[in-house]
Amino acid sequence: MDRIVIQGGKALQGRIPISGAKNAALTLMPCALLTDEPLTLRNLPRLADVDSFGHLLNELGVATSVEGARKGEFGRVMTFRAANIASTVAPYDIVRKMRASILVLGPLLARAGEATVSLPGGCAIGNRPIDLHLKALQALGAEIELAAGYVKATAPPGGLTGGTISFPTVSVGATENALMTAVLAKGTTVIENAAREPEITDLAQCLIAMGAEIEGLRSDTLTVHGKDRLHGATYAVMPDRIETGSYACAAMLTGGSLELVGAREDSMHAILSGLADAGALIEFKPGAIKVTGDGAIKPLSISTAPFPAFPTDMQAQFMAMLSLARGTSLLTETIFENRYMHVPELSRMGADIEVRGRSAVVRGVEGLVGAPVMATDLRASMSLVLAGLAAKGETQVNRIYHLDRGYERLEEKLQAVGAEIERVGGD
Ligand code: UD1
Repeated sequence: MDRIVIQGGKALQGRIPISGAKNAALTLMPCALLTDEPLTLRNLPRLADVDSFGHLLNELGVATSVEGARKGEFGRVMTFRAANIASTVAPYDIVRKMRASILVLGPLLARAGEATVSLPGGCAIGNRPIDLHLKALQALGAEIELAAGYVKATAPPGGLTGGTISFPTVSVGATENALMTAVLAKGTTVIENAAREPEITDLAQCLIAMGAEIEGLRSDTLTVHGKDRLHGATYAVMPDRIETGSYACAAMLTGGSLELVGAREDSMHAILSGLADAGALIEFKPGAIKVTGDGAIKPLSISTAPFPAFPTDMQAQFMAMLSLARGTSLLTETIFENRYMHVPELSRMGADIEVRGRSAVVRGVEGLVGAPVMATDLRASMSLVLAGLAAKGETQVNRIYHLDRGYERLEEKLQAVGAEIERVGGD
């Protein structure tokens, strides 16, 4: 299996182009199921998860075509066309690999009147149920059956009807499924306590480009006036705020300066204010955010929570950064249980971290030392890469298929700003 080998200690300097957001891509792609006309997505990141989602859509009868990136662009352009729905079943083999497959449930149901999706199993970052997704579909009139590890949703004979969906807790995926279903339901749907993540706004904007009528963008109440049909559109995926934040941490950890080209400030206030509190110099340039660290990292107290608060997807990378802070930090994870699997690995590199229930006390150390490490989820893997960039000596990050799910051309981007990092094949 491939691994990433890093010789740490180089201050990173230069420009890193930011890719299209993975989590936006994974909710924009299933929108193709909502129309028989082509949906073209620009700025799609080249990621394993995007490929897997494309394969899933192919299984459902969606024709896909890819155009290469334009010169100077990392992303690619893909066109999806679901002239007919060939199958309404998302099989176990695909869902098992990628939990976001659950996002075909709503669109298939809305377009074809039924959908059968394998239940996503437990996940490395905690037990992730789908009850909120199912409640949303039921509120629009769907019948739900669970059998043999699959969930089957069926629309009533007269089709789905708008209703009020009131989420007891905020869920990004359930809000996305609710929105993608409501756009084709009869009448008006009100989604209360909706997630406000920028990727939800990206989804709503793409649906509007396809002819949907949605009010309340960026708020926690979305009102959808259902349409009989949607049409094709061309839409550009928003830049990845988590990739941006991850490379910003790399600038801080190495005492370097990185211009993150294409990054968008409005999607990442909590991340940027965390970086600024940690001592980053942040400059807003036309079309870029420049983050400079002077090597002195200040400790922080941060709690993850739904947007606009600090995202759980940045917790592991901030922990790597704070492991070198001058003082003690407190990180609290409120979204997922069991999202501290990077802690023992960071500790092996010399970090001083103590997990107390949902919180982690991070006592800053003078330096980290390279070691062979591995992580069991995407953001945890990135935290190890970041620690490796700052550590003395060689770090080997194993199980890098996690990184390939979420960071486009990681080594290439980091090499270009002076990191000594390479991918090597292995057993
Ligand atoms: C999405 C993101 C993921 C991010 C997370 C939180 C994608 C592909 N993934 O995941 O990167 O970490 O948002 O920002 O966009 N929950 C339930 N029942 C449900 C659904 C969720 O109890 O039916 C719980 C979850 O267990 C979790 C919390 O709600 O504790 C939030 O999860 P959710 O916002 O749904 O995360 P995802 O959409 O899975």
